[in-house]
Amino acid sequence: FNVPKPQNEPVLNYGPGSAERAQLQAALSEARSYVADIPMYIGAEEVRTGKTGEVRPPHDHQHLLANFHEGDKTHVTAAIDAALAAKEDWENLAWEQRASIFLRAAELISGPYRAKINAATMLGQSKNAYQAEIDSACEFIDFLRFNVHYMTEIYQQQPPISPKGVWNRVEQRPLEGFVFALTPFNFTAIAGNLPTSAAMMGNVVVWKPAYTQIYAANIIMQVLREAGLPPGVINLIYVDGPLAGDVIFSHPDFAGIHFTGSTGVFQNIWKTIGTNIHQYKTYPRIVGETGGKDFVVAHPSANADVVSTALVRGAFEYQGQKCSAASRAYIPASLWPAVKENMQRDIASFNMGPVEDFSNFINAVITEASFDKLAKYIDAAKADSNVEVIAGGGYDKSKGWFVEPTVLKVNDPYYVTMCEELFGPVLTVYVYEDDKFEEILDIVDKTSIYALTGSIIAQDRYAVAIATNKLRNAAGNFYINDKPTGAVVGQQPFGGARGSGTNDKAGSMINLLRWVSPRTIKETF
Ligand code: NAD
Ligand code: ALA
Repeated sequence: FNVPKPQNEPVLNYGPGSAERAQLQAALSEARSYVADIPMYIGAEEVRTGKTGEVRPPHDHQHLLANFHEGDKTHVTAAIDAALAAKEDWENLAWEQRASIFLRAAELISGPYRAKINAATMLGQSKNAYQAEIDSACEFIDFLRFNVHYMTEIYQQQPPISPKGVWNRVEQRPLEGFVFALTPFNFTAIAGNLPTSAAMMGNVVVWKPAYTQIYAANIIMQVLREAGLPPGVINLIYVDGPLAGDVIFSHPDFAGIHFTGSTGVFQNIWKTIGTNIHQYKTYPRIVGETGGKDFVVAHPSANADVVSTALVRGAFEYQGQKCSAASRAYIPASLWPAVKENMQRDIASFNMGPVEDFSNFINAVITEASFDKLAKYIDAAKADSNVEVIAGGGYDKSKGWFVEPTVLKVNDPYYVTMCEELFGPVLTVYVYEDDKFEEILDIVDKTSIYALTGSIIAQDRYAVAIATNKLRNAAGNFYINDKPTGAVVGQQPFGGARGSGTNDKAGSMINLLRWVSPRTIKETF
């Protein structure tokens, strides 16, 4: 089990004049210079149906970046068949051979594909260079390398006792059937991790990304193929979600779903699986990371600069479209004037615009539907005399789906934007009386229908301890004196409970264990 010890991939800084900036700019220009034609990947085939959908940069909806070939139910069936055909050879391949493919993929992204996959994430999902680098390069590479490490740990776990004359052992079998990976638009690393983590453990996969992620998904598939992934092990299809679900969830060989996306979609999928449960050969694994309404609570002892930095970075990086994004804050009255002034100053200094200009911190939100939804909430807030717009509040869709970083101050901790996931650059703040800290913690817990991430910011150790205790179930990833975003693979296993998911911690052994079905063997001599 001598695999290379994983290290986090160093983050490149893309400073002016740097070699990495020049390479990324070249990759962006190259990607914009033609209209890509993106096939589905089923078995050894690149499938072109002729029925195409379009990929346009969210920050420049006049530009056609690619056409992708859309499939129907027959392609879902073909993908399942290809996966099942590849299954026997794949699961019998020695684990070192499987590991080697994913380690090679990590090397390819770290080197020759880095600029290409970052450019794809920037153009397809409107992430700036720095956000793309930590997602599609570093986090994806980390998932691959650390998961290989966790895989070897899992294979080494054996019963501690074999009495004389007996050999007890555990065999970590892949699941009996195929795994369905269903991925969201907002992280290329998640798109890469969901199919590869299941495949690494010997499973075969049908993978359907969000349509707004296809541009980067295509590059992931190219990397995996170049790394030596055999045909059929991961099949990439672009089929309408419910249509794909109809075929997948009624198939007897459906053995598990690896999902990341919204809570409502996951709950419906779970219900469908429940309804069909009698049809499957085995109880399917259901792993889902879902929505969030992530909080920052400041205590009166907090440093105002730490609070405002956690808020502006936590709420507005990637336009608030991280599942972990800070979207509600509870600030003591004594700190509010300083926190407010800092946030207004920082937000006024942000540039908003296309990703190709590296000085733009804020880019576009993902779709027109998302833009319209955010505009509706912002308009309702503006029209409400109980809500004060502290910063932003503007939006413009003439060139791209641009929504200003917006801070709302409310006088009701149950106001709609304190509770619902908006998934955009809107932060809502409730200011509380300094002596009501513990009452506020109770409200935070009560309104945590989701429980993904959250932060307590305080210098007082008792306040930290009380918050850590009272908010035990309100966040799967809890931060003390930091923003609630930016979990690093190998450092902070990521995932939430309640409405935020099954908490099977992405980038950890817990997650990989969901993709095996152990067999215990007792041999008597
Ligand atoms: P989404 O739920 O709209 O889509 C996720 C995937 O499900 C996509 O591939 C989509 O095509 C598919 N899908 C949608 N409806 C379907 C249906 N009825 N049947 C089958 N498949 C269907 O999510 P999104 O907008 O792409 O991503 C944003 C959401 O993901 C947010 O709620 C965010 O909080 C969540 N998210 C959570 C985590 C986490 O770790 N908890 C991480 C990233 C994103
Ligand atoms: N890993 C991402 C974060 O923590 C989701 O922000």
